[in-house]
Amino acid sequence: MAEDNRDKRTGESEEERRRRISGYGEGGVDVVMSVDAVAREAERIAENAPTPEELLHLAGGDAFVSIEKLHAGYGRMEILHGMELRLGKGQSLCLIGPNGAGKSTVLHSIFGFTNIYSGVIRIGERDVTHMKPNQKLKEAGVAYILQDNSVFPDMTVEENLWMGGFLKDRPEEAKEAAERVFEKYPRLAARRNQPARVLSGGERRLLEISRALVMEPEVLLVDEPSIGLEPRFIDMVFEILDDLQRTEGKTIIMVEQNAKKGLEFADIGYVLVSGQLAKAGPGDELLEDPDVGRLFLGG
Ligand SMILES: Nc1ncnc2c1ncn2[C@@H]1O[C@H](COP(=O)(O)OP(=O)(O)OP(=O)(O)O)[C@@H](O)[C@H]1O
Ligand SMILES: [Mg+2]
Repeated sequence: MAEDNRDKRTGESEEERRRRISGYGEGGVDVVMSVDAVAREAERIAENAPTPEELLHLAGGDAFVSIEKLHAGYGRMEILHGMELRLGKGQSLCLIGPNGAGKSTVLHSIFGFTNIYSGVIRIGERDVTHMKPNQKLKEAGVAYILQDNSVFPDMTVEENLWMGGFLKDRPEEAKEAAERVFEKYPRLAARRNQPARVLSGGERRLLEISRALVMEPEVLLVDEPSIGLEPRFIDMVFEILDDLQRTEGKTIIMVEQNAKKGLEFADIGYVLVSGQLAKAGPGDELLEDPDVGRLFLGG
């Protein structure tokens, strides 16, 4: 390795650098281009951030979900600095970006888990900026899919689904909705009377998604659906989301560390950097984008 290929700052050779940088986007744990390096490069990409007009165009000209000039965070700590988002009805969007960029915070803000200092969030014609999570679920048709073992292990599969309908006016409605879930997913139906703890990782994720469907939401917020799953279950989860979008017309906003899977799935991809939108495009175009490839796809 020629000396002049060494990084002037770190003294690393080209070979050492290549070995260190590996597959951020594959969802592996064998990290990564250094976090600082990704952040620096991502800031550079952000210099050509898309305009709201470009975002609306990507959304097909008519936004069903929109976020305008959003400043939001936790307590007094602002995390999102003027975030913009436009998504058409029935479209899917995947947010990617470095750890800590604020991706989950975008979902939290839409659902009502953050402090919103200024800006507007709209769903349909409705200004939902300051609605509480319960209202979002019951009145605005937004569901946030909890995960990381959010199923109740000692309750049966069926009882877990009923829990998803706790905001329904009549308990029978939740039961009816649960029956529709069982018709759709025989895997769950077969285990309806067993405690949820017997489910496999993939079945558990299916239950988490289905439980959100009991409220019959129009917009699904999904944070890292593939996390912790084996490849065959990852594919299953994406197939389920795909079905919810294509056959039921759900509008889906997801965050996915596995950028390749997420961008393959989604109509639109956004790259988020330091609490702002840095880049946006059709999912398949972002997959081919050299900057995205290098930073998030391990290419
Ligand atoms: N509940 C919270 N209270 C206070 N700060 C928070 C909270 N959740 C997140 N943060 C902070 O907000 C910033 C953005 O976090 P966020 O979880 O949105 O990032 P992310 O892009 O989803 O990252 P990751 O890829 O690691 O999931 C981080 O600095 C984080 O520490
Ligand atoms: Mg996150």
